Amino acid sequence: MFSAVHIYFALAALFATVPHVIAGSFTYNNESFLLNGEPYQIRGGQMDPQRIPRAYWSNRLALARGMGLNTVFSYPFWNKLEPRQGHFDFSGMNDMAEWYRQVHDAGLQAVIRPGPYIDGEHEWGGLPAWLSEVPGMAVRQNNQPFFDTAKSYIEALANELNGSFIPQDGPILMVQIENEYGFCGSDHTYTNALKDIYTAAFDTIFYTNDGGSQSALAAGAIPGVLSEIDGNPHVGFAGRNEYLNASNRGPNLDGEYYTTWLDTWGENSTHNHDTTNPAEVGGHVQLVSSIQSDIDFILANQSSFSLYMFHGGTNWGYQNGGDGGGGSPLMADTTSYDYGAPLDESGHITPLYLGLRQTIFSHLNETLPPIPKQNILVDVPSFTLTPSIAMFDALPAPVHMKYPVNMEALQQSYGFILYRTNMTTAVNGTLQPGDYPRDRVLVYVNGERAGVMDYSYGNSSVVTLSLKECDILDLLVENMGRICFGCPTIFDQRKGVVGNVTVGGIVLVDWEIYSLPLNDPPSSESKYGLVSTNTSSPPIFYTASFSLSSVGDTFFELPGWIKGIVWVNGINLGRYWIVGPQQSLYMPGCYLKTGANEVTVLALEVNGANTARGVSNRTWGNNPDPDAP
Ligand SMILES: *[C@@H]1O[C@H](CO)[C@@H](O)[C@H](O)[C@H]1NC(C)=O
Ligand SMILES: *[C@@H]1O[C@H](CO)[C@@H](O)[C@H](O)[C@H]1NC(C)=O
Ligand SMILES: *[C@@H]1O[C@H](CO)[C@@H](O)[C@H](O)[C@H]1NC(C)=O
Ligand SMILES: *[C@@H]1O[C@H](CO)[C@@H](O)[C@H](O)[C@H]1NC(C)=O
Ligand SMILES: *[C@@H]1O[C@H](CO)[C@@H](O)[C@H](O)[C@H]1NC(C)=O
Ligand SMILES: *[C@@H]1O[C@H](CO)[C@@H](O)[C@H](O)[C@H]1NC(C)=O
Ligand SMILES: *[C@@H]1O[C@H](CO)[C@@H](O)[C@H](O)[C@H]1NC(C)=O
Ligand SMILES: *[C@@H]1O[C@H](CO)[C@@H](O)[C@H](O)[C@H]1NC(C)=O
Ligand SMILES: *[C@@H]1O[C@H](CO)[C@@H](O)[C@H](O)[C@H]1NC(C)=O
Ligand SMILES: *[C@@H]1O[C@H](CO)[C@@H](O)[C@H](O)[C@H]1NC(C)=O
Ligand SMILES: *[C@@H]1O[C@H](CO)[C@@H](O)[C@H](O)[C@H]1NC(C)=O
Ligand SMILES: *[C@@H]1O[C@H](CO)[C@@H](O)[C@H](O)[C@H]1NC(C)=O
Repeated sequence: MFSAVHIYFALAALFATVPHVIAGSFTYNNESFLLNGEPYQIRGGQMDPQRIPRAYWSNRLALARGMGLNTVFSYPFWNKLEPRQGHFDFSGMNDMAEWYRQVHDAGLQAVIRPGPYIDGEHEWGGLPAWLSEVPGMAVRQNNQPFFDTAKSYIEALANELNGSFIPQDGPILMVQIENEYGFCGSDHTYTNALKDIYTAAFDTIFYTNDGGSQSALAAGAIPGVLSEIDGNPHVGFAGRNEYLNASNRGPNLDGEYYTTWLDTWGENSTHNHDTTNPAEVGGHVQLVSSIQSDIDFILANQSSFSLYMFHGGTNWGYQNGGDGGGGSPLMADTTSYDYGAPLDESGHITPLYLGLRQTIFSHLNETLPPIPKQNILVDVPSFTLTPSIAMFDALPAPVHMKYPVNMEALQQSYGFILYRTNMTTAVNGTLQPGDYPRDRVLVYVNGERAGVMDYSYGNSSVVTLSLKECDILDLLVENMGRICFGCPTIFDQRKGVVGNVTVGGIVLVDWEIYSLPLNDPPSSESKYGLVSTNTSSPPIFYTASFSLSSVGDTFFELPGWIKGIVWVNGINLGRYWIVGPQQSLYMPGCYLKTGANEVTVLALEVNGANTARGVSNRTWGNNPDPDAP
């Protein structure tokens, strides 16, 4: 398994005339990772480039090194890299080769975790939505269509990363296969086939990462592949000692040491706590001193770690995943992926950063280096937005279908989809928007709001309608993010309407279906102008221009607004929702300019709120959901 790497190293040394190639080698024995033959303790932290503005990559990497990390762990997001089957996009934030050039330039090594399933609180754990429409597809299973699509992705990624691995003077040391598969299945036929795809594409060493229990390790380990753990390092390292078979053994790596935790909409914040105060911690919120003590244990143990997350970043646009599924309500992840990480969403250091920096440098016997500079945060004074376009006045051309079809069937992956029918008969009764709401269904009759069904509440939101002949019924369905965690990922993740729409048990037919991906705000050719709004009206796009005399990052607040999307200068910053805990959207200065900046806000529900502002000091908190059943 390691021979090819060694041969490359040997050849590179032999042909020393080849310029600029200072090839390295990476392998391991039972006790240590070995970089160029020397023991290498991985002091890692996770940062995913596709969650960080590209203009800020080098700054965030410098801050990682400034805390004493030597290795960056990253998930690439397959769904962003292959947005349509066979069409790859390695530009902008998807430029993985550039990310690894910058990792290298920052003096860091790297570990890449390409999945193809990654979880990561990312939309469907990184799986592209179009997989749902591939005939015979069964994701994360022993299934030829899944292997075929996964192979094509892994090959494209490997081709892109040719030059990014350690024998080629790149920073990448090793590659993770799958992600916590032991929490989902135990089919070694599946994991062995994935291993074959990986070994054909990458000339490197591989590992798997699972929970530290016997069952998770036995289900997730692949014969002949290094098996590592995540979570509590005391439990996980002991579990590795006790349960692993010889061919899975090697040095200890806690591949995901959780610094804090993810946030889902409507849940209490993990961020409203003082992590230096014992009275305020519990659950996933730990004292800084207890995190320091775990990292201290790992370092003294001659073991390795990766902080999950070192820096979380942002689920831009519609890229958040969700928990739940498989018969449980949806718990969609928030736009912010701050995670309570040492480096916060805006790239600012926290007490945890300072604490870990102390711990790590004490083990290195080095004096603390200066902390790299952090971005400037600015305030933007409150300004008023103007209602400019009603969503239903700016619809694209529809497709006509007798029965509804799901979003993916129209080659749409994210955003919204509108189903409209003109009633041919009168019907009364409860609305069933397909098999269940996927995920949030705003209901209108003749352009007036008639209710909301939201799968955050399971099947408990009920809308009862009394429809006359020639009434126009609209169902505006929001995809709030596909399930990313655990085994529900293998179940049907289609969005929009799946099945028939019924009212009082009567199947409604003859639909106009409008695909509304809304990655961008409405184009300037749309019918902009002052539109009238009231609390029963369909969604409205508000616009405004705000002026900056100097550029900086800010947290964009929308006081009192209920739910929607924000764009600044055409860039989709993601969803806001009054329920919190997220109460502001990270607006990076690299997307702003001095002078006028254009902001568009989609208000899915109109309630009179019409101001916004930027704050340099964000707050977290929860509010009641006005649409809760
Ligand atoms: C680790 O030790 C076991 C038995 O002690 C041996 O079979 C295995 O090959 C060793 N693994 C490595 C990577 O050296
Ligand atoms: C990687 O790049 C080198 C040099 O350009 C080329 O010779 C080699 O075939 C490439 N390998 C793969 C797997 O594409
Ligand atoms: C070790 O190997 C045995 C026999 O193949 C298998 O049953 C067991 O699950 C393996 N244990 C782990 C932790 O992989
Ligand atoms: C959220 O957690 C904080 C800290 O434990 C607590 O003070 C607060 O009451 C909680 N809020 C809700 C809405 O549960
Ligand atoms: C590391 O921790 C494990 C599990 O607690 C223990 O078995 C091992 O002896 C420790 N190694 C060192 C070098 O401290
Ligand atoms: C909602 O209803 C559908 C259809 O009956 C069912 O499949 C699903 O499990 C239900 N969800 C919950 C959370 O009860
Ligand atoms: C740091 O210093 C201590 C005590 O002198 C020594 O035992 C340890 O090996 C040193 N660690 C490193 C990483 O140099
Ligand atoms: C629906 O309910 C309304 C109001 O109760 C009633 O006037 C109408 O006749 C009902 N229509 C049908 C089709 O049952
Ligand atoms: C509110 O909007 C509805 C639907 O467009 C309309 O019928 C109604 O007249 C509006 N009311 C006011 C006060 O503007
Ligand atoms: C609904 O259908 C009726 C009967 O065909 C037609 O008169 C009416 O104009 C339609 N309404 C709309 C908004 O298209
Ligand atoms: C929708 O209803 C029609 C008519 O009742 C039926 O033929 C069709 O099978 C239904 N579709 C689904 C997906 O249930
Ligand atoms: C930020 O806001 C919090 C809560 O309102 C406050 O306690 C803190 O002092 C503020 N920090 C700064 C730097 O203004």
